[in-house]
Amino acid sequence: MHIGIIGGTGAEGRGLATRLAAAGVHTLVGSRDLDRAREVVTGLANQNRSLPLEAATNESVIDTCDVTFLAVPFARAADVVASHRAAFRPGALVVDLTVPVSFPEGRPVMESLPEGSAAEHLRARLPAEVKLAATLKTIPAAVLTRIDTPLDCDEFVCGDSPEARTTTIEVLGRIPGLRLVDVGGLETAGILERMTLLAIAINKRYRVRTARFRVVGVNV
Ligand SMILES: NC(=O)c1ccc[n+]([C@@H]2O[C@H](COP(=O)([O-])OP(=O)(O)OC[C@H]3O[C@@H](n4cnc5c(N)ncnc54)[C@H](OP(=O)(O)O)[C@@H]3O)[C@@H](O)[C@H]2O)c1
Repeated sequence: MHIGIIGGTGAEGRGLATRLAAAGVHTLVGSRDLDRAREVVTGLANQNRSLPLEAATNESVIDTCDVTFLAVPFARAADVVASHRAAFRPGALVVDLTVPVSFPEGRPVMESLPEGSAAEHLRARLPAEVKLAATLKTIPAAVLTRIDTPLDCDEFVCGDSPEARTTTIEVLGRIPGLRLVDVGGLETAGILERMTLLAIAINKRYRVRTARFRVVGVNV
């Protein structure tokens, strides 16, 4: 399976790329600008030798990957999908990481979307033959990027089909310390996106940047 990240140069994308590569998953770090992707890959390689990371344009991620993580700011995500719409391969899986939150005057505000969530907003804009899952919305970049910190948490996965969720869980399940919890269809994405606000509130209250979630009472 070929794996890549659109917006792989950002905080969340870099963290995911590092975690996947450290687990032995060859990962394309995508950017609008190949030179920026190369800089990021070189920087990550300097910190963690011999990671299987490769710089790529966002176009080549979409062209070549079976699983494409979308890690751009939500405000830009629909434009990214629209500009590449014709290039998505039928049967490919897109995994949405976006959270429709902004910080006017420093306070987190969730954007109200007619579809109910960022994931459903993107589902409405992706070609029907592309599968969509949503996950990693509640894991902060501050934790993902610190490769020496065990994740030691759960993350929720929703998706438009059992196949979308299973493939996402298969890929991310390679990352040590991360337990993936299947929470069903995309209609749960709005809940997950609001849980990000909860994590932000916990971080603020306890002056940390590392709050994340763990489900008890279920064997996954
Ligand atoms: N940061 C977190 O802790 C966290 C946690 C959970 C979920 N998320 C979600 O993950 C996503 C990425 O977060 P982030 O903090 O990594 O964001 P970010 O650093 O602000 O942006 C990520 C990447 O998006 C690309 N980008 C920026 N503007 C763009 C545009 N107009 N068109 C296309 N690409 C553009 C940039 O890559 P290039 O310039 O290289 O193309 C940038 O490096 C967001 O939707 C966020 O809500 C973040």
